[in-house]
Amino acid sequence: MKILVTGGAGYIGSITTAELIQAGHQVVAFDNLYQGHADAVHPQATFVQGDLADREAVAQLFAEHPGIEGIMHFASYTLVGESMAKPLLYLRDNLVNASHLLEAAVAHGVRRFILSSTANLFDDPERMPIDEHERIAPGSPYGESKFFIERMLYWFERIYGLRFACLRYFNACGCTPEVGEDHDPETHLIPLVLQVALDQRPYITVFGDDYPTRDGTCVRDYIHVVDLAHAHILAMEALDRMGSRKYNLGNGAGFTVLEVIETARKVTSHPIPYVIGQRRSGDPATLIASSETIRRELGWQPRYPDLETIIKSAWEWHRAHPNGYAK
Ligand SMILES: NC(=O)c1ccc[n+]([C@@H]2O[C@H](COP(=O)([O-])OP(=O)(O)OC[C@H]3O[C@@H](n4cnc5c(N)ncnc54)[C@H](O)[C@@H]3O)[C@@H](O)[C@H]2O)c1
Repeated sequence: MKILVTGGAGYIGSITTAELIQAGHQVVAFDNLYQGHADAVHPQATFVQGDLADREAVAQLFAEHPGIEGIMHFASYTLVGESMAKPLLYLRDNLVNASHLLEAAVAHGVRRFILSSTANLFDDPERMPIDEHERIAPGSPYGESKFFIERMLYWFERIYGLRFACLRYFNACGCTPEVGEDHDPETHLIPLVLQVALDQRPYITVFGDDYPTRDGTCVRDYIHVVDLAHAHILAMEALDRMGSRKYNLGNGAGFTVLEVIETARKVTSHPIPYVIGQRRSGDPATLIASSETIRRELGWQPRYPDLETIIKSAWEWHRAHPNGYAK
């Protein structure tokens, strides 16, 4: 298939692009490089630099690359904390950008769409692990923007027949030897811990150690980015036969912040000092996904569920690229 990957120069988009190409698909990667890196885009992908906020540029993208059969939509503002400070970037821009994409998609007869959605849809879960029947209660304007886009897709299916899958991922992590995680600012735990191991920051701050968990620190579900990429490919390939779907995607195992630090110490042989800081407002104690539905329906299996393997893969990339993609 010929697939348009928005955010194809970003962390998850670039790795999914590489996996798509390896699976025999053709990829057009579209990214404004706001967070992405041209060097992250697979050399066999066609890279187009442009902004989803620019409606004309999006229309031109489809006109100049005819025959797009499916879209994977990664490009987004992505930070929960930023969305609490600048809600309109999320409640306006994420939605407007998605609407430009959807408008061009239906104008060009695209029938398949995969959305990067989020665990932030489930702020105050009633059950753990969290399955697709959990009540939707977005934890921030970021999560709300993803929920709105899920709703847009619902209407685009009813009105235009666009089939979609919403993949609500928990914490993406890990790297491949070629492609890694390089955000500015970096907010994700594993790359921050590895920055300490690289002596780029003196210590890591743990936000709260008085949660009702096994060691008092928050429990999160870490899913290897290659496993996420495979879920996208399976979901895209299944849309025609199975129709639209929503899947929660995680490892199904939760690890505490201190367990992540301890595992990183083992992998890197660095002492990785930490200090205990205040809780962050809105951080739930535990977030673990149930991925039973995608396992059952699509046969998806995480290949790298083990935390040590995940951190090793990230460490190898970060050690080889201590300044990220910067030359
Ligand atoms: N990383 C995670 O743990 C995680 C968890 C849940 C959901 N998600 C979602 O997955 C997607 C990818 O996340 P990521 O971690 O790879 O983020 P990322 O920032 O690395 O990738 C997003 C890419 O989109 C590009 N982009 C942003 N706005 C754009 C625009 N207007 N036009 C064109 N390109 C634009 C950025 O330059 C970047 O390369 C996002 O939608 C995010 O909300 C990520």
